[in-house]
Amino acid sequence: MLAALNLPSFLWLWRIAAWSMGLSISAYLLLAVTGGWLFVSHRQQGGQLESQLKNQLENQLATPANRPSWLRPLHLFTGGVIVLLVLLLLAVGLVGTFGYYGSLGHSPHLIAGLTVVGLTLLSAWAALRISPERPWARPLHLGVNLALLIGLTAVSWTGWTVVQKYLP
Ligand code: HEM
Ligand code: HEM
Repeated sequence: MLAALNLPSFLWLWRIAAWSMGLSISAYLLLAVTGGWLFVSHRQQGGQLESQLKNQLENQLATPANRPSWLRPLHLFTGGVIVLLVLLLLAVGLVGTFGYYGSLGHSPHLIAGLTVVGLTLLSAWAALRISPERPWARPLHLGVNLALLIGLTAVSWTGWTVVQKYLP
């Protein structure tokens, strides 16, 4: 690792960043699709509004009949993957930058990176709290995920801007 830090360029860093970022965005898209499906399967329960609301609460933890059994585990697994990827990107970014400059905070990329990590952890935390006793957890999960879309765009944009500095 120390030898890698002495490399004259950030090529190794932005290669890992680009690959992990590609995977993160793929994970986000898969989460949006599986999450959207979970969302629809909740709302298709029951006919009348009243029974629909009741079913929504009751079925949050059980598996509704119109939902394949692998859907929720797949969503959760992909969620775990995106958490790990984002933490990996944070570690590589911090270690790489500190190893090269001896300090942090060289561009808005730092704020964007910290924001994305914070939002991802908040989303996962809220997701694991979804239950009938905690009606705030579901809307929080959804709202944070929307903000995460903007955050991922910002971190890619600022990351790419930083990479331009090292390209000939
Ligand atoms: C950060 C990691 C994530 C974890 C650990 C996670 C986990 C969960 C869990 C446990 C549920 C409840 C499932 C159920 O009701 O049976 C859920 C629901 C949902 N998630 Fe995620 N999720 C994550 C990220 C995302 C992302 C990035 C999106 C969208 C881009 C998303 C969209 C949704 C949607 C739409 C629902 C359904 C809410 C509803 O039924 O009203 N999730 N998620
Ligand atoms: C979730 C995604 C990401 C996170 C959490 C993240 C996090 C970070 C952090 C915290 C730093 C230290 C910044 C500083 O102190 O100024 C950093 C540096 C860096 N990141 Fe990222 N990053 C992400 C994605 C990317 C992407 C997509 C790229 C490029 C395509 C990238 C390229 C870089 C480069 C080249 C540096 C060196 C900073 C400099 O020279 O100013 N990162 N990253």
